[in-house]
Amino acid sequence: MENFLKSRVALVTGASSGIGLEVSIQLLERGAKLYMVGRKLKNLKARISKYDFEDWQINFIEADISNDLDIAKIAREINKEGEIDILVHSAGIIFLGPLENESIENLDKQYRINLRAPYLITQKLLPKIKKARGQIVFVNSTAGLSSWENHSQYSATKYALRAVADSLRKEMLPNGVRVVSVFPGRTDTAMQQHVQKMEGNAYNPKCFLKASEVASAIVCSISLSQGSAITEITIRPNKC
Ligand SMILES: NC(=O)c1ccc[n+]([C@@H]2O[C@H](COP(=O)([O-])OP(=O)(O)OC[C@H]3O[C@@H](n4cnc5c(N)ncnc54)[C@H](OP(=O)(O)O)[C@@H]3O)[C@@H](O)[C@H]2O)c1
Repeated sequence: MENFLKSRVALVTGASSGIGLEVSIQLLERGAKLYMVGRKLKNLKARISKYDFEDWQINFIEADISNDLDIAKIAREINKEGEIDILVHSAGIIFLGPLENESIENLDKQYRINLRAPYLITQKLLPKIKKARGQIVFVNSTAGLSSWENHSQYSATKYALRAVADSLRKEMLPNGVRVVSVFPGRTDTAMQQHVQKMEGNAYNPKCFLKASEVASAIVCSISLSQGSAITEITIRPNKC
């Protein structure tokens, strides 16, 4: 079978950790040229160094995606290269709490990183992605499909992210750009450790998806040739 990802140029946000890191590794293993975005260059380099093979083509972009100047920097880096085929939005944050007393600052932070940043990054890179008839992946959450107590803020950002993806997919049909939303359930990452702490639970990673399993579903979906498109993936733990 042809390796559709070989030599494609991909950019992954949230590449320093969890799902974004695993997607990065699997893209590199398939011969993609990669831009890894994270807040700390040191972390990005440290996390990938233990996997690094000589022929992997990696560029690092240090950017805080809550900051528009840093988003402009991401666009500048890509414009220097001149092309991009695949954009994976994996960066995200979560705060849990009842609407009655959860802080509005936490809502604003989640809005900026979970929704506004992927919107703006997509907007800045879209001319190049259109030219490449490329692909865009929004890492959403099962909390973007239904909500629970204490999830109003996070779920609101993920519901809205789903709307952005659904609308963009229709807008991009004439251009051949494919857009997929991925809805993982609980996944063993730093974010899930934080969630379990906020919920007052002991951490039991065996019950959760592995980040590499979610990444495999993502990479599989974007490995299809141009003639078909996976539009949504829901993946849940099938363990405890
Ligand atoms: N874990 C789960 O159970 C789960 C379930 C469903 C959906 N998700 C979604 O999956 C995605 C990845 O989460 P994860 O579980 O892999 O979490 P993670 O391991 O905590 O990774 C989060 C990533 O987001 C980046 N990030 C956070 N704030 C940023 C900012 N201001 N600027 C740039 N990067 C920033 C982090 O980069 P730094 O290293 O710079 O902090 C990190 O790479 C998120 O969108 C999350 O909502 C997770």
